Amino acid sequence: MLQVLFVLSEMAPYSKTGGLGDVGGALPLALQQLGDDIRVLVPWYGRPDLDEMHWICSVNVPYTQESAEIWIATNRPDVYFLRYSAYYEREGSPYQNAQGQDWPDNPRRFALLNRVAVELAQGRVSSLNWRPDLVHVHDWQTGLIPYLLDLETRVGSPRPATLFTIHNLAYQGRFPPTIMADLHLPREDFHWQGTELYGTFSFMKAALVYSDQLSTVSPGYAREIQTDAFGMGLQGLLQQRAGQLSGILNGVDTAHWNPRTDPYLPAHYHARNLVGKNQCKIHLQQSLGLESQEEVFLLGMISRLIEQKGIDMVLDVLPDLLQRGMQVAILGSGEKLYEARLQELAAAHPGRLAVRIGFDEELAHRIEAGADAFLMPSRFEPCGLNQMYSLHYGTLPIVHHTGGLADTVVDADDLARDHERNGFVFSVAHSDALLQAVLRAAAVFQQPAAWRQLQQQAMAGNYSWEHSALAYQQLYHRILARP
Ligand code: ADP
Ligand code: GLC
Repeated sequence: MLQVLFVLSEMAPYSKTGGLGDVGGALPLALQQLGDDIRVLVPWYGRPDLDEMHWICSVNVPYTQESAEIWIATNRPDVYFLRYSAYYEREGSPYQNAQGQDWPDNPRRFALLNRVAVELAQGRVSSLNWRPDLVHVHDWQTGLIPYLLDLETRVGSPRPATLFTIHNLAYQGRFPPTIMADLHLPREDFHWQGTELYGTFSFMKAALVYSDQLSTVSPGYAREIQTDAFGMGLQGLLQQRAGQLSGILNGVDTAHWNPRTDPYLPAHYHARNLVGKNQCKIHLQQSLGLESQEEVFLLGMISRLIEQKGIDMVLDVLPDLLQRGMQVAILGSGEKLYEARLQELAAAHPGRLAVRIGFDEELAHRIEAGADAFLMPSRFEPCGLNQMYSLHYGTLPIVHHTGGLADTVVDADDLARDHERNGFVFSVAHSDALLQAVLRAAAVFQQPAAWRQLQQQAMAGNYSWEHSALAYQQLYHRILARP
């Protein structure tokens, strides 16, 4: 049985700002089902309340006066919640204040998580009496861990193997070099083959250089990030490490995303009987103040409202789509400019365009079920979960051909892959191309039999976490088999 310490900055249902939280909520459980001993370390942000949490131990954080606490919930003894209220229990998101600005002390906040992870990894938290074979860390917020463990080897301490998973190369955890003194990190590695990235200290770069193995969340993105167009300045390093870089697609957590059982839905359905899906559509229209019309083409979108997600392209085409009689339901939050423009458009098109700004898990499920098609025109998308939820819910995704979107959605016109066709794909990230894809989708929607066939093919796809967990387990074994 493998012993793995899994460290990340968010974990559904305890904390979630995006897909990383979904992965944290699902992948450790899927790996446990394969028989491995997976323990998760994640900061505790103070909500939602867990009825029964117990203090386990305090950990003195090296080089600091700080003492952090590890707590567990009675029903989740495998999750170590890291409590340090001055850092983590704040109004706002794990990364930003309520105004959408990054917390200025983010390097310290996440360095604390990284330092505690290293204490656990090295078996120095005696009351836990546990030491992992491998430490699996995610995104820049955990990027110091492979580096700090490398420093341990340099002073002769054996360490577990390390795997760093890139969920999004755009967030690199870059800070002024003065941060090294602040975080008690040696300056000797601050060079182009070490922790330095264009004059800054980068948590992500540290992970990419010092981790034994690298992975990302789709095979397509694993290839893309080695190119100038998607490498975000790290392509050279990623090319150099290509032999240790793999892509493993995320999955759908069917305990939470399943149209047969989803507790948030007004009606349930499955591939052979989609009557319930229609009821979800009517209910969604009513609850969002859209005109109740079964035959109208209803597009959904749930997204962080940032350039990566192509929300600007959606804004460009929205007036045209609405004018052609389509309805659109958008749920999201992010850049204030996009939020305001969406709200203005919604005010100008009552009954046709519904915009909800904020984070709303229940509405996200109801849009996935009630919409006919789902918009995901991301400029780049490491994996993307919403297109997979959409496929599973028979809501055909309209996507840009990139990263995980290209790996999961097969265009309705791709006759060479007849039985895999499950959505609409456009190849240039431009609003004209998006518009053409939506018009193609709207035309197929007018042919119920053809639409239904695509829905059934979408719903027949297998995007299970079991499959991904097996791939990670094999990767863990390959890493540990190396000398
Ligand atoms: P990313 O992690 O880049 O934001 P993903 O598609 O991987 O993109 O995952 C996004 C996750 O966050 C999905 O589970 C999606 O439903 C959820 N989500 C995003 N925005 C919202 C929102 N405003 N309300 C509820 N859920 C949201
Ligand atoms: C990131 C990516 C998204 C991916 C998620 C989970 O947020 O932007 O594409 O699905 O991580 O891996």
